[in-house]
Amino acid sequence: MQHKRSSFSNKLGFVLAASGSAVGLGNIWRFPYLAAQYGGGTFLLIYLILAVTFGFALMTAEIAIGRKTGLSAIGAFKSLDKRFGFLGVLAAAVPIIIFPYYSVIGGWVTKYLAAFISGQVQDAAADTYFSEFIGGTFEPIGWFALFMAATSIVVLLGVEEGIEKVSKVMMPILVVLTIFIAGYGLTLDGAMEGFIYYIKPHMSDVSAKTILAAMGQLFYSMSLAMGIMVTYGSYMKKDNHLESSVRQIEIFDTGIAFLAGLMIIPAVFAFSGGDRSMLSSGPGLMFMTLPKVFASMKFGGIIGAAFFIMVLFAALTSAISLMETIVSIFRDKFHWERRNTCLFVAGLALLLGIPSSLGFGPLSFISWMGLSILDIMDFLSNSVLMPIVALFTCLFVGFVIKPSTIAEEVKITDGKFSGEKLFTVMIKWIAPIFLIAILISSVLSGLGFIKI
Ligand code: PHE
Repeated sequence: MQHKRSSFSNKLGFVLAASGSAVGLGNIWRFPYLAAQYGGGTFLLIYLILAVTFGFALMTAEIAIGRKTGLSAIGAFKSLDKRFGFLGVLAAAVPIIIFPYYSVIGGWVTKYLAAFISGQVQDAAADTYFSEFIGGTFEPIGWFALFMAATSIVVLLGVEEGIEKVSKVMMPILVVLTIFIAGYGLTLDGAMEGFIYYIKPHMSDVSAKTILAAMGQLFYSMSLAMGIMVTYGSYMKKDNHLESSVRQIEIFDTGIAFLAGLMIIPAVFAFSGGDRSMLSSGPGLMFMTLPKVFASMKFGGIIGAAFFIMVLFAALTSAISLMETIVSIFRDKFHWERRNTCLFVAGLALLLGIPSSLGFGPLSFISWMGLSILDIMDFLSNSVLMPIVALFTCLFVGFVIKPSTIAEEVKITDGKFSGEKLFTVMIKWIAPIFLIAILISSVLSGLGFIKI
């Protein structure tokens, strides 16, 4: 039986839900260390320029495709051109790969929040706390299952009653907490030095790699090239302005990424006496360095708890978008009921996520090029599949359905599309060239041929 498609009740609901998807672990943990590593202010500037050109074009295309067809990725591409069904399938594979391991990390965040709330601030700051925790068997799986259950409940409640309502509560709280923590961090002794380091351009760290790193981050951060924005676009009403929605999502996503840097870099500087090496510790930054920073601060227990609540909200709203995208694909394809589809997807993701979780403990002997199971999933989805999907999406829009098809959809509300020229040039020429460069460099570096 064909079910009636749900929708977000208004533009605000859509923008907050899509921003909820975009603002995630990538903004809070990955953006700050990339900025610190690749030239501070210069990275910020490059990122911003890419966001309003490249990010704008791709996000507009995806949302418009979703809204025009009223379908999730697989059906959407196919209904526009039969030969491009494969593109939908590729796009759909990305959330199926990401959702399980993203939820494993969501489980870690939940565990840290529980530790800070229950006053185990010093324990969490101990050197081996993190490795012992993720190296366990049942405990990390338990937190992963809990995180997955919370995500599933929201998706089960549906687009308007679940996703929209939760986003309307969590996203404003997230903004307030971020501003509060960043403000507090800046008052610490020695923080100003970190602040200056963060926003001042340091040209010696800038190279072609900076642009590639910024591009890769942009994709992931804006939840592009994985069918999410197509799915959310399919729930957007025709009388909501598409172009201004995209602008607002971009501002939200970039604003939170910038604030996350303000929250983390000055505090780490204050803690380490200006030692930048602590910033480049990758995943360890959030789970090893920051707990130490919190433990050393006055009111560190409260600040740490506030921090992990905001990270949890960011991770949850992103996980929700991943799960909804998968659910929507199955429902469009098989016309299943929402409830059964949710149970099926949650069960599947739980099974698929367990190896990623165990990959740091009992299954740590499984590795490829030095990567753990979780990192392999991350590499496959982010460095291989996503650039491919994005590249084909650009070529599809640029040369098959033509940019004017997207422009028509954007113009439905009031006949205007002020970024149309920019959109056309980006999607046809500039974005594909950059994407090919990203794809080549990320695959080569992933395989160990070059070092990025
Ligand atoms: N955009 C999210 C972030 O910045 C990441 C994400 C990836 C969300 C995949 C959903 C799906 O963390």
